[in-house]
Amino acid sequence: MNITILGPGAIGSLWAHKLANAGHNVSLWGRDSSETLRLQLDDTSPQTFANRDPNSLVDCDLLLVTLKAWQVLPALESLKSQINQDTILVLMHNGMGTAQPVCDHFASNPVVIATTTHGAFKPNKYQVQHTGQGMTQLGGMNKAGQQCHFLQAVLDHALPEVRWNDNIQAVLWNKLAVNCAINPLTAIEQCQNGELARPPFQAIIEPIVLEIVKVMQAEGIATDFQTLLATVNQVISHTATNFSSMRQDVYHQRKTEIDFINGYLISVAKQHHLATPENSKLYQAIKQIEQGWITS
Ligand SMILES: NC(=O)c1ccc[n+]([C@@H]2O[C@H](COP(=O)([O-])OP(=O)(O)OC[C@H]3O[C@@H](n4cnc5c(N)ncnc54)[C@H](OP(=O)(O)O)[C@@H]3O)[C@@H](O)[C@H]2O)c1
Repeated sequence: MNITILGPGAIGSLWAHKLANAGHNVSLWGRDSSETLRLQLDDTSPQTFANRDPNSLVDCDLLLVTLKAWQVLPALESLKSQINQDTILVLMHNGMGTAQPVCDHFASNPVVIATTTHGAFKPNKYQVQHTGQGMTQLGGMNKAGQQCHFLQAVLDHALPEVRWNDNIQAVLWNKLAVNCAINPLTAIEQCQNGELARPPFQAIIEPIVLEIVKVMQAEGIATDFQTLLATVNQVISHTATNFSSMRQDVYHQRKTEIDFINGYLISVAKQHHLATPENSKLYQAIKQIEQGWITS
């Protein structure tokens, strides 16, 4: 397939390598204006990819969007006139809230959403490290996207394991719940995920999870407090030594994905007239931290 990676950062560069190794014709679309980008994955031989070649959008079968959530809409809108109406758009990022506007703006394109637990790190412009094996789940966001089951085999061949999930909304909501509970707290406290297993943090996490359960149930997602709390604590324990992406963004003074994590939860809660004071506190705290960089 002709595959273009929009946003070849850590995750995008990992997929670029894996898809190219699987035999696909892979191009990049980064912010860098150079015509080619040379990238090395771990200690494999560096590969050279075309970058920002207009033909790589026009002839693209699959546009894999590996931007941060807040970068997705502005980037896609700026490229709209160059994107073919048949190109499959796969959005792969943390958080929720981009898929519906993308479906509205790209009404003819198949839109698929993906969520991955692989870990990737880009120490510099030329290198990417695959820091953690994971799993990727995919599902269609519009009618045309729901007919793209075949992508499971395509992506699984490149970087297993990949599963197609007809109920991708449930997967996304469960991931959102984990992100709402872990990311802002670890960013505010500048701690590893494992710290949150300590009783003072558990006392904060429980009311956060309770609010999320009510919103998920209002959205028709089957869950309950004990199950969701157990899921959050399982992730805390399995990723005890990890620094969450939001903790890293705050550490490096980069804009976070809070609007698409707790921010998204709060906006959906409002539609159901549900109060979310605990998630709002976390949201405000992160916004205040971000504001501090702008004014300082
Ligand atoms: N990294 C992981 O291990 C991991 C794991 C699971 C999920 N995720 C999620 O995957 C998403 C991407 O994460 P990441 O770690 O790969 O982030 P990242 O390294 O920041 O990658 C985003 C890339 O997009 C580029 N970009 C920004 N705006 C652009 C535009 N308008 N046109 C073209 N390129 C643009 C950025 O360039 P600049 O650097 O120049 O801004 C950067 O190279 C996030 O939602 C993250 O939470 C990441």
